[in-house]
Amino acid sequence: MTARKSNPPARLHGRVRLPGDKSISHRAALLNALAAGDALVENFLPGADCLSTLACLRSLGVESTLDRPRTRLTIRGAGLQLSEPRDVLDAGNSGTTMRLLAGILAGQPFFSVMTGDASLRGRPMARVVEPLRRMGARIAGREDGRFAPFAIEGGNLRGIEHVSKAASAQVKSAVLLAGLFADGRTTVIEPSRSRDHTERLLAAMGAPIAVDGLSVSVTRAAAALRPVSLRVPGDISAAAFWLVAGSIHPDADITIENAGLNPTRTGVLDILRAMGADITVTNEHTEGGEPAGDLRVRSARLRGIEIGGDLVPRSIDELPVVALAAALAGGHTIIRDAAELRVKESDRVATVAHELGALGARVEPRDDGFAITGVAALCGGSVNSHGDHRLAMLLGVAGLVTPDVVLEGASDVAVSYPRFWRDLDRLSAG
Ligand code: S3P
Repeated sequence: MTARKSNPPARLHGRVRLPGDKSISHRAALLNALAAGDALVENFLPGADCLSTLACLRSLGVESTLDRPRTRLTIRGAGLQLSEPRDVLDAGNSGTTMRLLAGILAGQPFFSVMTGDASLRGRPMARVVEPLRRMGARIAGREDGRFAPFAIEGGNLRGIEHVSKAASAQVKSAVLLAGLFADGRTTVIEPSRSRDHTERLLAAMGAPIAVDGLSVSVTRAAAALRPVSLRVPGDISAAAFWLVAGSIHPDADITIENAGLNPTRTGVLDILRAMGADITVTNEHTEGGEPAGDLRVRSARLRGIEIGGDLVPRSIDELPVVALAAALAGGHTIIRDAAELRVKESDRVATVAHELGALGARVEPRDDGFAITGVAALCGGSVNSHGDHRLAMLLGVAGLVTPDVVLEGASDVAVSYPRFWRDLDRLSAG
């Protein structure tokens, strides 16, 4: 029903207005929920993941309305004390909803249960359950809390120092949010810097937070947070699809308006430029406490590179579409240190290698990434999104340069970019 067949356009010219950043939209809702008073969040992402966050918050007594065209969110903070939900909280497909909310629920003196869809119920939760238990939350869950569903009885937390094995903003945020309800100081130390949207917003809301290199600390919030109204910058993870499309299409010139350019998120720009992409940044400004700007991308001849280390957390959600760029680049590309890809909405190492392979790409899955050898062109074929929004979009981009790509699961884009196919059709007609 949701299958789409590709029809590559001769030209790919035009402007795109990005959906609001997914990570920032989640945080704008979750953190303002803990504030005393109303906040207006503009350019909120009305994707399924962020709607899951709003639905969970509603069950916890936090009212919000999303006005047409469903990007203006008004949210009434409940203060630091939420209400016990009468039913199971369903995070849908959203890891950010489940993990960040688990941190908040750990600090609430009531009983709650969280679940999600089949994909989310298969994703690792011990990384948040373990530190939250150490802080004093009582959590019971499937396979001893390694997977959802899990039940939380929160309250009476104590601060901890948590040394995170992976650079994960979801883990960092969950522990810091619990730390707002804990006695003493809570510190998270990361191996390299993950996205810092939580830290920025907490600071803007007057929370007791301090950042020192790779270490972030909070102490108990003495009072409800200050509501912060903001305009969410465009999602650079959504922009990545147009950056790759514009690079691999032979006649492309795309301007992407108002992309978030937080340095913890711009790894994809560094990667594509190192591959030879023609990307310029203009109109740099600050939006919602975050750096932002317009991106212009034009056709280029890409070459393979090696990607690993600190660049990986700065580009983790973009690596699937980078793999597509590498599949059409000259020479070899290695993507390493990216084992986290295996525990995203799908096992993205396996699904990306399999689906691009079905189109004739030479993408070898590795334990922690890919070894890719560029080919001159892909060929048509039947492909599947595996219920993964980013896979659906990268296969849509592959179809901009490849005839007869028949994609099953095209509607999965609704998780993070509901207008994706409309924007793709508009650019194709441009
Ligand atoms: C996110 C953090 C990243 C990212 C995810 C969104 C966030 O996950 O992959 O799409 O909003 O904090 P991890 O924290 O698991 O690395």
